[in-house]
Amino acid sequence: MTRTDHRGDAITGATETALSSYEKAVGELQRYIGNPFETVDAAIAEAPAFTMAHLLKAHLFLSGAELPGVAAAKEAVAAAKRLPANEREKLHIAAADALIEGEYERAEARFEDILTRYPRDALALQMGHLFDFYRGDARNLRDRVARVLHAWRSSDPGYHAVLGMYSFGLEECGQYGKAEEIGCSALALEPRDNWAHHAVAHVLEMEGRRDEGVKWMASRETHWATDSFFSVHNWWHYALYHLDEDREAEALRLYDGPIRQARSTVMLDMIDASAMLWRMYLRGIDLGSRWQELAEAWAPVAEDGLYAFNDVHAVMAFVGAGRQDMVEKVLASLRRTLDRGGSNRAMVREVGLPVALALSAFGRGRYGETVEQLRDLRPIANRFGGSHAQRDLLDLTLIEAARRDKQTGLLRNLTAERIAAKRHPAPLALRYREAA
Ligand SMILES: [Fe+2]
Repeated sequence: MTRTDHRGDAITGATETALSSYEKAVGELQRYIGNPFETVDAAIAEAPAFTMAHLLKAHLFLSGAELPGVAAAKEAVAAAKRLPANEREKLHIAAADALIEGEYERAEARFEDILTRYPRDALALQMGHLFDFYRGDARNLRDRVARVLHAWRSSDPGYHAVLGMYSFGLEECGQYGKAEEIGCSALALEPRDNWAHHAVAHVLEMEGRRDEGVKWMASRETHWATDSFFSVHNWWHYALYHLDEDREAEALRLYDGPIRQARSTVMLDMIDASAMLWRMYLRGIDLGSRWQELAEAWAPVAEDGLYAFNDVHAVMAFVGAGRQDMVEKVLASLRRTLDRGGSNRAMVREVGLPVALALSAFGRGRYGETVEQLRDLRPIANRFGGSHAQRDLLDLTLIEAARRDKQTGLLRNLTAERIAAKRHPAPLALRYREAA
């Protein structure tokens, strides 16, 4: 008998019990809660020949953009390859293989092949969306979802996640009103959809609605702050509203608390920590031994060379901690990447290496060099991934470097750009205007 998953796509090798664990894991991934790794392992233990369960496990490992995850994904894909597979499952194998090889565009093409034939494949959609994010592809963050919305009904399980992704894509394309509306409708269906919550948080950040942002976070804390593997990033957004409003002590309190108290070595958590400390460093806030702690956490992965966006955030920690030796190690690793294949090579060449050099120069007080590296790079900085809110750090670094290097014309123009970009410009932008 052909069994189907809860969206109606055929699956191979499942039992009813294993399918229920699999669906639970998909639901956890869609909400960013619980422990989908453990849940999918339960599905595999119940039905070792459940092909899609092995592939979900592979995708979970690949979703973190970390080197150990790639090795673990390889094993999961090898297990899937030993099992019978239908057309859709074979395409998932091809997509996972491409991700393992670091060929992100090829993986995206396979996810698109799946979605063209199976527009209700929630996993292909989410992985496609995630790697649109890692590749800074704003158009596909929105339109990959828009292309399959026709196949979904509001009563479908996981529909909230489709809306949550659509909301984030709309936000990255600057359609803030529609993004907020769709994000809120996702949360009306499922308050614990942390990606949808985060999409609305981005809207509030981009429009400079910082007090609304604080209220948004505080009033919904029970939904996003507990039992979520995405909570550090949402805490980061929370702290960002405070910092942008010059409430530095409050931002530091959140850094020392939920952002960094667990001393996480998960790449995405360390990125948030680096990104928060760097913004504070640009403001001249005394950070005590915080950089040292974070630099130690980054040190073991400094030369992984997997993904430029990670490496640049490692550089921030090393610059902040005064570890020029480690900065040099990352720079050497980035240069080695230029001789390798995969999508990361172009990311390093076009964005990662120049940004790393810019940050390193800033740390040594060579602000003119920072300006030189960053000024003309910004329009293509999306190519190494992340969100507009995350990449704003490049703008902030450039404008502070311009100020310190006394490049008045550039400072004046960048400030004008910054003030024009937001409905409610931050106090810092207004101070820059005065300085200019
Ligand atoms: Fe974010």
